[in-house]
Amino acid sequence: MKVRITLVLAALALTAMAPASAFSPEEIRKILLHGPWPPPLRADPGNRVSGRPAAIELGERLFFEPRLSGTGSVLCASCHVPFRGFQDARPRAFGLEQAERNTPSLLNVRFNRRFGWDGARDSLWAQSIRPLLEPREMRATPAHVAAVVRKNYSSEYAAVFGRFPASDEEILVDVGKALAAFQESLVTGRTPFDDFRDALERGDDAAAAGYPLAAQRGLRIFVGKGNCSGCHSGPQFTSGGVADSGVRFRVPGLRNVARTAPYMHDGSLPTLRDVVGFHSELNEQEVVEVVTFLESLTAE
Ligand code: HEC
Ligand code: HEC
Repeated sequence: MKVRITLVLAALALTAMAPASAFSPEEIRKILLHGPWPPPLRADPGNRVSGRPAAIELGERLFFEPRLSGTGSVLCASCHVPFRGFQDARPRAFGLEQAERNTPSLLNVRFNRRFGWDGARDSLWAQSIRPLLEPREMRATPAHVAAVVRKNYSSEYAAVFGRFPASDEEILVDVGKALAAFQESLVTGRTPFDDFRDALERGDDAAAAGYPLAAQRGLRIFVGKGNCSGCHSGPQFTSGGVADSGVRFRVPGLRNVARTAPYMHDGSLPTLRDVVGFHSELNEQEVVEVVTFLESLTAE
């Protein structure tokens, strides 16, 4: 009995002391692919006001404008709540009625290539028009949105888009473009993982040692045995593609994922432990380590 305990303690001490350099060159190569962060910010070629300060400002006001909804009561921020990582902490969204899907976070949305859980849309501004017209979400019409802009935002609109009067359809598209310009500004800062990754790249063992060992073990599983990186790849932790898991869903990015429970397209999994357990054949301790790693993807 005593011998056994001593052995267990010795094993624990060994794992606790394992240095960062314990990662193999192949593991390090895979880890480096998850950075650097932040990636270069490029303007959206499909949005002529992308990156313009006046458009970002107008988009921010529209994001918090309940009058855009048909009933005057729902705003983008009703579901994409800023202090909740721009989601709503509900399994499924609720606007004017219960919707079918979980509200995704809008943090780092500018890096997505496809939008919506099914990845059906390929432009941020087109995706931003959808909730305005969706009856269960904001239930507006193009004529309603255009009237709100003409009445309350005419000078800002003219200054950003250089046209007034404009048709209802032109205004609707431009509202989508201003909203997109604002959402492009929602880029989160660096995380403990990013500092570790950059330390590995520099070969700086002292700096790398600041990253908790449980997170390091979770990371090793993430890029190795768990094969999570196969789908959750790159600096955003998504291939940007759509994966087939019975039904086809876009692979979600994992930055700040610890802030955006519940999970999956239908919000069916309440915790990260549930997701990682559901996704893989890992044992309980490995699941905990992967969760610790996922938590280290949270920006301060
Ligand atoms: C009723 C809640 C609700 C409201 C209000 C709402 N959204 Fe959403 N949003 C959702 C849901 C649910 C999805 C996922 C839709 C899907 O999968 O098709 C989503 C998806 C998105 C996406 C795609 C994100 C991604 O990662 O693919 C963007 C961008 C977005 N919304 C922007 C907005 C903007 C801009 C507004 C206001 C004009 C808005 N939303 C209003 C619930 C809402
Ligand atoms: C075959 C591709 C694939 C692999 C491999 C994979 N995932 Fe996923 N992951 C997905 C898809 C697709 C979803 C969204 C599924 C849905 O909405 O129903 C998802 C969802 C998630 C979510 C929930 C994100 C959210 O915002 O709701 C987390 C967390 C996650 N995966 C972590 C992992 C981890 C950890 C591993 C490795 C153990 C892993 N994934 C392996 C494709 C994959």
